[in-house]
Amino acid sequence: MYRLLKPLLFRLDAEKAHNLAFTAGGVAQRVPGFLSLSAALTGKPDPSLRREAFGLAFPSPIGLAAGLDKGARLLPLWKSLGFGFVEIGTVTPRPQPGNPKPRLFRFPEAGLILNRMGFNSEGAEVVAKRLAHRPSGLIIGGNLGKNKETPEEKALDDYRAAYRLIAPRVDYSVVNISSPNTPGLRDLQAPEKLKPLLEGLLALRKEMGLERQALLLKLAPDLAMEDLDALIETVVASGFDGLIATNTTLDRGIVGGDLRARVEAQGAGGLSGAPMRDKALAVQARVQEKLAGRLPWIACGGIGSATQAKESLEGGASLVQIYSALIFEGPGLVKRMNGGLARA
Ligand SMILES: Cc1cc2nc3c(=O)[nH]c(=O)nc-3n(C[C@H](O)[C@H](O)[C@H](O)COP(=O)(O)O)c2cc1C
Repeated sequence: MYRLLKPLLFRLDAEKAHNLAFTAGGVAQRVPGFLSLSAALTGKPDPSLRREAFGLAFPSPIGLAAGLDKGARLLPLWKSLGFGFVEIGTVTPRPQPGNPKPRLFRFPEAGLILNRMGFNSEGAEVVAKRLAHRPSGLIIGGNLGKNKETPEEKALDDYRAAYRLIAPRVDYSVVNISSPNTPGLRDLQAPEKLKPLLEGLLALRKEMGLERQALLLKLAPDLAMEDLDALIETVVASGFDGLIATNTTLDRGIVGGDLRARVEAQGAGGLSGAPMRDKALAVQARVQEKLAGRLPWIACGGIGSATQAKESLEGGASLVQIYSALIFEGPGLVKRMNGGLARA
């Protein structure tokens, strides 16, 4: 069905196509019988794909990365497609519109996405209410951010406000300081700024009695290797439970020739999809080496096949996440990846 719909979706402006697909998904998941049909067509992930990580039992290591379902709107649908877990968000404490449109661009011939969404969010209160009705049997992560107008010195207050509302309704939480589309956000990756942020959140987790729930940090792929090493040591020393590597990249060097010029013509933003795979792999190799088994981590960035997922898992990741490939390949990709991994 996606093969039939794709030409239409790809003729539309990217964000309009996204909104249309979400509306259709929302309607579909309320039609009696649709979810069981979708699940029957997909089939449950093979039991051999089960794995434990972060104190949770994942039915498949393949998850949906943050940013697609920012408001936790399509959880039953994701579950029916065979995802082992879904990361909702980024959720900011207060609602905000994000950057002016257009802010999302697809380059299907390269499997590349450029986005400068800028944390468009309904706010933590609305999303938390929706999560109260989350489907059973799906592992959900909550990816948290700060509002754009919040100054850097108040960032911890924002992450704490979002955590307070979202964490009780999810299975793990992620601190996102690696989006390139909120001015100054990535500066929080410097160890002297990161340490109080992580400690402040761990203190809140304890206060809320959620010590057993994992707290992860999502990394940018654009750090110098020495800075990445320092960041990893800060995270391990803090008592955080793991890492996600990586978010989108600002490095335009991952695309060449004519495509590079067309990407540049669309302006600022982070790149994701197939062309960022090597970049993500380099960061992940460093993460694996430096962590040396001290913490688990999730691989994300340019993954689009069972072979690539297997490569990431063999490279030391406990789980993998996908986003861009799902846009280009359609929802059947999850089943194909689960099937391929199970056979492998
Ligand atoms: C349109 C778009 C929006 C995104 N929004 C978020 C976000 O809100 N929070 C976040 O942590 N990552 C966000 N990401 C990054 C993805 O979660 C992922 O890290 C990145 O796209 C690399 O994976 P991929 O190559 O499989 O797409 C976004 C990515 C895209 C393409």
